[in-house]
Amino acid sequence: MQVRKARLQDATNVYDLVNSLSGDGTLLKRSFPEICENIRDFTVAESDAGVFLGCGALHFYGPHLCEVRSIVVKPEAKGQGAGGRILGALIDEAEEHGIQSVCLFTRIPDFFFKFGFRTVEDKSELPDKIFKDCQNCPRLHRCDEVAMVRGRIPRISILGPRHEAQELVRITG
Ligand SMILES: CC(C)(COP(=O)(O)OP(=O)(O)OC[C@H]1O[C@@H](n2cnc3c(N)ncnc32)[C@H](O)[C@@H]1OP(=O)(O)O)[C@@H](O)C(=O)NCCC(=O)NCCS
Repeated sequence: MQVRKARLQDATNVYDLVNSLSGDGTLLKRSFPEICENIRDFTVAESDAGVFLGCGALHFYGPHLCEVRSIVVKPEAKGQGAGGRILGALIDEAEEHGIQSVCLFTRIPDFFFKFGFRTVEDKSELPDKIFKDCQNCPRLHRCDEVAMVRGRIPRISILGPRHEAQELVRITG
């Protein structure tokens, strides 16, 4: 198995796998153009024979925060270490970029506990994530996901009308 950054040629596999689990809300639905536009966020796992096994993405909010998104392994490849290796690669990538807070929303916190994530009781402590995804989510008022963070919870946010310019100046100096 190898784990590597995605190429545009992976977009169809990524699209098919991610959307196979978007119907029940396990993963956020992603359109094909959105996958292509953000393909450089993705890391993929493939077998030694080059067969696509799974993927995950690291979305940058800014120097203060990034998010693990769309992490999924094909059903027939589960339990062989691919998901853990993809997540490890995304954590390494965050560290390479000097980002100390990695967040995610999930229904399977136990998987992420193994990799140093902890539960965030109050989702409003991650306002960038709320602004990006939650405010337009049909499950906004009946969310069944657990918010998690690895590293410290950022004290700033940059999305949303009030914060944007002011906070960008603060963090970039
Ligand atoms: C979650 C998922 C990516 C894990 O991928 P995987 O390749 O099966 O995981 P790995 O084989 O690398 O497992 C790594 C470790 O996590 C554990 N683990 C795997 N899935 C788990 C789960 N659902 N809950 C708790 N622990 C889990 C494994 O037992 C293993 O632990 P160990 O190191 O102590 O043996 C995969 O099950 C999946 O695609 N699930 C559906 C999509 C999904 O729910 N994604 C998360 C959205 S936030």
